[in-house]
Amino acid sequence: MDEIRVGVVGLGPRALLTWIPLLARIPGYRITALCDRIEALHQAALSRTEDPASVHTYSDYDDVLQDPSVDAVALTVRSRDQGLLAARALDAGKHVHAEVPAAHSVEDCWRLVLAVERSGMTYQLAEQTRYWGFVDAWRDLVSSGRLGRVTLGEGQYFHHYTEGMFQDPRSGELMGPDGISERPDALPTWAQQMPPIHYLPHELSPMLRILDDRVTEVVGMSTESPSVANPLIAQSDMQVALMRTRKGTILRMAASFAQPHPPGNWHWYQLIGTGGRVEWTRSNRDRPKVWLTDAQMHDLADVDWRYERTDAPAEAHGSGHGDADYYTHVSFRDAVFAGRQPSFDVYQAVDTAAPAVLAARSMAAGSVLLEVPDFRPGPTRTPGQAP
Ligand SMILES: NC(=O)c1ccc[n+]([C@@H]2O[C@H](COP(=O)([O-])OP(=O)(O)OC[C@H]3O[C@@H](n4cnc5c(N)ncnc54)[C@H](O)[C@@H]3O)[C@@H](O)[C@H]2O)c1
Repeated sequence: MDEIRVGVVGLGPRALLTWIPLLARIPGYRITALCDRIEALHQAALSRTEDPASVHTYSDYDDVLQDPSVDAVALTVRSRDQGLLAARALDAGKHVHAEVPAAHSVEDCWRLVLAVERSGMTYQLAEQTRYWGFVDAWRDLVSSGRLGRVTLGEGQYFHHYTEGMFQDPRSGELMGPDGISERPDALPTWAQQMPPIHYLPHELSPMLRILDDRVTEVVGMSTESPSVANPLIAQSDMQVALMRTRKGTILRMAASFAQPHPPGNWHWYQLIGTGGRVEWTRSNRDRPKVWLTDAQMHDLADVDWRYERTDAPAEAHGSGHGDADYYTHVSFRDAVFAGRQPSFDVYQAVDTAAPAVLAARSMAAGSVLLEVPDFRPGPTRTPGQAP
């Protein structure tokens, strides 16, 4: 196999502005199908493909699954069914490259895992921040022992994203609370239907890669809903989760979309260990920082770590999110060509989703501590066997 024929499902901005252009640019891909329930979006997507006349358009997902000219589904839907839709494609014999979050319930995490195990098809979660340059640098500091035993890891995604909170169901146009007085039939998008804490893949994925770890316990707390900052948004302004990992690190993870935040610099991370600490930038003018206990350092020092990798190939430049969007597509392509799973496999993918889902469940239940399952096969579960 030297070409993957892709059906792109979900034709919102993520597909139109990033996935379709990238699939055209990276060798080894050809778009053969496009699908969205909102038919008005089909033309915008077709016009971005290289050979529109050869592309099938569908409004029903089942038609993509039945199309023999589709080897792999690119899932760019924003839906609470995301894990379920991925599992159905795997069951139908399609490889799947899916946008984040991997799933919105523990049940769908299991569906996804079992579908990969039973079908043998390739599944990759398109979580790209784990490929950032500083993530590799911090991972080296942890694995070499320079930070000692890491006791605290922090990650937060504070993105004031009100402009994508409502959608016109006919045109697909996205709008914020200001726009809905003239569009009474506008519907809340994913961003309101999902507890903000569900959107932790860009925090948990790099953090767990740096620590080479997984979350075992979680407890969450939330401010009230609707938003105080934007009362038309049916979502809490702030949700915070505390997690414990298998190796004993405590994680503080937080997410917020409805309340104002300075533009840019949406993500923030910190690691504190017995041997030192590293910290991401606090503002757009700030620099990442390091402090090591055994390096004669009287204060934290600035380091020019960036999202962009120093070893990025030319074709990665400008692909999105500090060049990182390129890497998930290359990883997925190479895994499909080799007939294997990617190194960021389905178990690591659900490790980024289940703690977030359970954090929301903890919040709803009055902040009870919940256990996070290990989805890997083991003594009590063979591959393909339901738990
Ligand atoms: N990795 C990243 O950095 C990043 C950035 C932005 C968005 N995303 C992810 O990308 C995805 C899409 O984001 P978006 O902003 O384009 O969302 P969006 O809501 O604007 O678009 C999603 C589209 O999917 C369609 N859709 C939903 N369910 C469908 C179904 N069952 N069958 C056919 N069509 C269906 C909707 O009609 C909609 O047009 C989300 O999963 C989001 O979490 C990831």
